[in-house]
Amino acid sequence: MNSARLFAKAKKLIPKGVNSPVRYYEPYPFFVKDAKGCKINDVEGKSYIDYCMGYGSILLGHAYKDVIDEVKSQLKLGTLYCAPTESEIELAEMLSKSIPSAEMVRLMNTGAEATMHAIRLARAYTKKDKIVKFEGCYHGAYDYVLVKAGSGALEERIPLSEGMLNSVIDNTLVLPYNNIEAVEELFKRHNDIACIILEPVIANMGLILPKDGYLHKLAEIVKKNDALLIFDEVVTGFRLALGGAQEYYGIKADLATFGKALSNGFVISALTGRRDIMSCLAPEGKVYQASTFAGNPLSVRASIATLKMLKRTIYKELEKNSSYLTKAIKDLIIDHGIEARVNNIASMFQIFFSKMDIIDYESVISSNTDMFKTYFQQLLRNGVFIPPSQFETCFLSYSHTREAIDKSIEAIDSSLRKLG
Ligand SMILES: Cc1ncc(COP(=O)(O)O)c(C=O)c1O
Repeated sequence: MNSARLFAKAKKLIPKGVNSPVRYYEPYPFFVKDAKGCKINDVEGKSYIDYCMGYGSILLGHAYKDVIDEVKSQLKLGTLYCAPTESEIELAEMLSKSIPSAEMVRLMNTGAEATMHAIRLARAYTKKDKIVKFEGCYHGAYDYVLVKAGSGALEERIPLSEGMLNSVIDNTLVLPYNNIEAVEELFKRHNDIACIILEPVIANMGLILPKDGYLHKLAEIVKKNDALLIFDEVVTGFRLALGGAQEYYGIKADLATFGKALSNGFVISALTGRRDIMSCLAPEGKVYQASTFAGNPLSVRASIATLKMLKRTIYKELEKNSSYLTKAIKDLIIDHGIEARVNNIASMFQIFFSKMDIIDYESVISSNTDMFKTYFQQLLRNGVFIPPSQFETCFLSYSHTREAIDKSIEAIDSSLRKLG
């Protein structure tokens, strides 16, 4: 069955035919047959070079052998015990060694779960109610943080989802990113702020980098005001460096959350942080957090296999390939005389059709999203799959070969020509 017919069938049963909003684009998304390395293949036999990579989850490449072999051997031994295993300790040790502030670790399933419990923990530890988040940062689809969120919420222009509790969101203070004065001002006006939560590099309104010194300054303000700093490293974790943004920028957060690239595509997340805070989690402390599937052996073994690979210096190669690709895109923009900006860091990048430097929510929403949609469709026609929204980020994996990157550059060239 082709994608059109599958979509017609899917949309009768699944809202808009997709199980997460950003997967939809007009007229309908391609349906996937399989994926291997840097390629994703549809049911009609068309192959695309993938820069969506599970929205950053697939750092090593699709169906990466070492990870799949590890999971295969675990499958024979059982898939869920709901009792502790030695593997969980092995993974916690690996995380604690590589992540700067990870004195303790609790495994969970999704990124949303990890950030939600990080916030609850911060409220309990500080005995304060309010939280600060930034415009365009996305931490999951739940009430505490779904205020001016990025990702699909921004694509759909939903600054506040229907159905949210006002009593919850009244405690969520939202600020512009990269503006330290706004943070200082806010702390002068409120003495009941439990924490600041942020993506240290924002990957959910396109890609936005912190200004020099911004993260360190946030850490200072938080400390001075007896609040906590939570780094949501669900995207940046294991991507910017083995120790995530904390290692990359040389900074320690009080709590940090991980997911995505941790397991190269299996369901797992982790909340990590200072021992005195983490030990407030039940049953050691009184902050309740629980899950049937937490620490399930398949995801844990997949994570161990992934982290073993990441120990080797793959980051240099990823960065080399990423610089090569982003330089080519920047050159093509000039060649085609197109008004556009490219933000990039490590193996992440995004193009914005804008005259302005893209540094915050205001600058992002001023970029030309119609042009982005045309660019996306052109790329698809030319065999390259990127996230279908301006408010997402493109990701390279360790499996993107120079040959695939050169092919992608040709596709980008043809696609930009159509826009020029
Ligand atoms: C930075 C960040 N935090 C949290 C989440 C939520 O993770 P999940 O979709 O696994 O719940 C996401 C998802 O894209 C994310 O990008």
